[in-house]
Amino acid sequence: MQRMIENLKEAISEGGVIAFTGAGVSAESGIPTYRGKDGFWTKYDPSKYASIEYFNLDPSYYWSFFKDTRAPLIHDARPNPGHVALAEMEKAGYLDAVITQNIDGLHQAGGSKQVIELHGSTRRFYCVDCNKKYSLQEAEGALDVNLPPRCNKCEGIIRPDVVFFGEMLPPGLLEKAFTLAKSASVIITVGSTLIVYPASHVPAVAKQAGARLAIVNDEPTPLDDIADWTLYGNAGEILPQLI
Ligand code: APR
Ligand code: ZN
Repeated sequence: MQRMIENLKEAISEGGVIAFTGAGVSAESGIPTYRGKDGFWTKYDPSKYASIEYFNLDPSYYWSFFKDTRAPLIHDARPNPGHVALAEMEKAGYLDAVITQNIDGLHQAGGSKQVIELHGSTRRFYCVDCNKKYSLQEAEGALDVNLPPRCNKCEGIIRPDVVFFGEMLPPGLLEKAFTLAKSASVIITVGSTLIVYPASHVPAVAKQAGARLAIVNDEPTPLDDIADWTLYGNAGEILPQLI
């Protein structure tokens, strides 16, 4: 492992690095991952909580879950040494961007500037009718009154700025991620099962275009076979060693 880390550090020192992150990078901040024993999707049914069809049918289902389960987590979570290490790598000029599937905003909280949020963010909200924007604080304030929270301008339903199952990724963002992937020298994936399409295609595209692939995860992934480095363990312990 130590030799792999030294070798990866050398590759990073040449620049042109991007990171691709998933729920595992935030696990040490206290936010459960999606899959696995304590995962969100193991405890809650994503076809209800995370689908646009169900949100349109019964938005208060989403909002009551958000109020009781998700909002307190997001509110209390602080960036961990893994997030901070990626921010430091960017500040030092080696890392060009973090492409993330996470919706928790912790990369920005940790200091990262170039963050592509492929699945949106539960720190931003908007009215489905007039598009008025709301912050997490404003949305949380509205939760105390009624569910679902409604727009103070037009009474429309407020929704999170996230990509539900059944929705397209924000136009342009995936293309931007693929463009970065195609020109990267090194891509480091962190804390992702790498199974959710199309986001998970990003590391494969980078590799195909000539980047070297490093995988930081606490369990094997389907891309381990084509990876140049596989670092098994906690993101919050491994990433700081790359600085
Ligand atoms: N350090 C490193 N890896 C970790 C850690 C940790 N501290 N904790 C968990 N992991 C690993 C898990 O073992 C798992 O392989 O991180 C991975 C998390 O995988 P998922 O829960 O599937 O999360 P992710 O890959 O981000 O999911 C992708 O699925 O439902 C959707 O939209 C949701 O963005 C999400 C997408
Ligand atoms: Zn409105």
